[in-house]
Amino acid sequence: MIAPVPISLDVNGERVEAQVLPRQNLADFLREHLALTGTHVGCEHGVCGACTVRFNGDIVRSCLMLAAQAHNASVQTIEGLSDSGEIADLQAAFRERNALQCGFCTPGMLIAAQDLLRLDAAPDRERIRTHLSGNYCRCTGYQAIIDAVEATGKARRVS
Ligand code: FES
Ligand code: FES
Repeated sequence: MIAPVPISLDVNGERVEAQVLPRQNLADFLREHLALTGTHVGCEHGVCGACTVRFNGDIVRSCLMLAAQAHNASVQTIEGLSDSGEIADLQAAFRERNALQCGFCTPGMLIAAQDLLRLDAAPDRERIRTHLSGNYCRCTGYQAIIDAVEATGKARRVS
């Protein structure tokens, strides 16, 4: 029998203390322990990007991290970014430009897109494509997603 380990971390600005099994991944911890089900789990081996979260300021694939590795870390999920209003304009652009259909990829796509717009306020379409190339979408064909990210970058530059 493997004993749980204690972890303490910040999730969306709130302190969380928990006991986790050493093998539990961060995505499952967020979804099952904290009910933050906006973090989606698709491939479970680091390919699709559906499980993307912000971890100490950088984006990571939470299916490839253990929950125990998040001890003392700061994690932001799509719920945190959404509730804070940080990505409200990006979310509106996705809606307006039909950049989501089933929505499965959308949380990871939004977090990755916001990561790019924080790094580069004026990304061209090729840069957007490259930055989002680790996030798979089976519905949209990507063009509308790139349109939405490009439009958000442009709108932020004039505001
Ligand atoms: S579920 Fe993590 S990359 Fe696909
Ligand atoms: S909107 Fe369905 S997978 Fe992207």
